[in-house]
Amino acid sequence: MGERKEMPRTAIVTGGNSGIGLAAAKALGKKGYKIWIAGRSAEKGATAVARLRPHCPAGVEFLPLDVTLFAGIEQFVRTLKPQLGGRLDALVHSVGVVGNGKRVVSADGLEEGWATQFLGRYLLTEAFTPELSNADDGRVVFVSAQAPKNPRLFEDDPSLEKNFTIMRAIGQNQSACVLYEQMYAAEHPNGPAINGATAGLVKNTGINRSLPGFIRAISKGIFAVFGITVEQSATNVVALASDPALKGVSGYYFSKPQNVQKRQKLAFDEERVASLRRVLAKYATVRSALLTT
Ligand SMILES: NC(=O)c1ccc[n+]([C@@H]2O[C@H](COP(=O)([O-])OP(=O)(O)OC[C@H]3O[C@@H](n4cnc5c(N)ncnc54)[C@H](OP(=O)(O)O)[C@@H]3O)[C@@H](O)[C@H]2O)c1
Repeated sequence: MGERKEMPRTAIVTGGNSGIGLAAAKALGKKGYKIWIAGRSAEKGATAVARLRPHCPAGVEFLPLDVTLFAGIEQFVRTLKPQLGGRLDALVHSVGVVGNGKRVVSADGLEEGWATQFLGRYLLTEAFTPELSNADDGRVVFVSAQAPKNPRLFEDDPSLEKNFTIMRAIGQNQSACVLYEQMYAAEHPNGPAINGATAGLVKNTGINRSLPGFIRAISKGIFAVFGITVEQSATNVVALASDPALKGVSGYYFSKPQNVQKRQKLAFDEERVASLRRVLAKYATVRSALLTT
């Protein structure tokens, strides 16, 4: 009788067709993970798959995903779930945009930053939690900017229809991520693990592509001089997704790229998590639909 072939570990990397996500996908592929990368652009996806293929012996695929559209998230979940065979080892969220300072809203009324930096990540994490729970050591990683010291939500207006500014949007999106990480870690004491990792200032990614020309040129210069590489930025992300030494580490914020020791436990803030729960209640129907997809 032939030997039973062990299933490779599996990882989804949202935003994996570019920048930090692409570097993380490459590193996880080298570790033997079967990889699915996701983003809107099929062209960028195909280019990324061609670059990743030599490093991913267990396989790599691109799946289209637009997290600003509920139907896009649902289609992604519906397509991928059957391919996972009931188990997912790592879900890395590197999806994100920095807009041009103007409020951009999807056909579903979702502000782009809110959808990419938080809401889409939240819905996908919830959708794949059954599969992550079936893994021996399931991991969720949020790639983000610096975590705010006092996370705060605009409960009545999470999509910032009134008083949108880019700084308010960034502050709120990062706040929601930190509060969700606290909430999820508390709700899943035996895993899946969830952690947030700061990206740092990272050169040669697509993140600034929507900035107005002169600001883009200045920021490109600053990033080129002071920025770290995508591989450096992805170091903690990859460790959080895969390092057995970090098994059981959950609900932490990793504040220094390349230094996995530099971490703070996110203290559970009951009042603010309650505020997040009230915001999330607005999306309860979408969440339930994804869980039955
Ligand atoms: N670079 C930095 O210095 C820095 C600093 C702090 C935080 N970060 C965070 O790090 C993460 C990765 O950024 P990066 O620098 O690697 O930028 P990047 O190269 O632009 O990567 C962002 C990824 O998100 C995807 N994406 C954007 N909108 C999407 C949508 N609506 N639905 C699905 N996918 C979408 C993009 O693919 P498509 O365009 O094909 O959709 C791309 O793959 C982001 O969350 C960013 O905010 C970066």
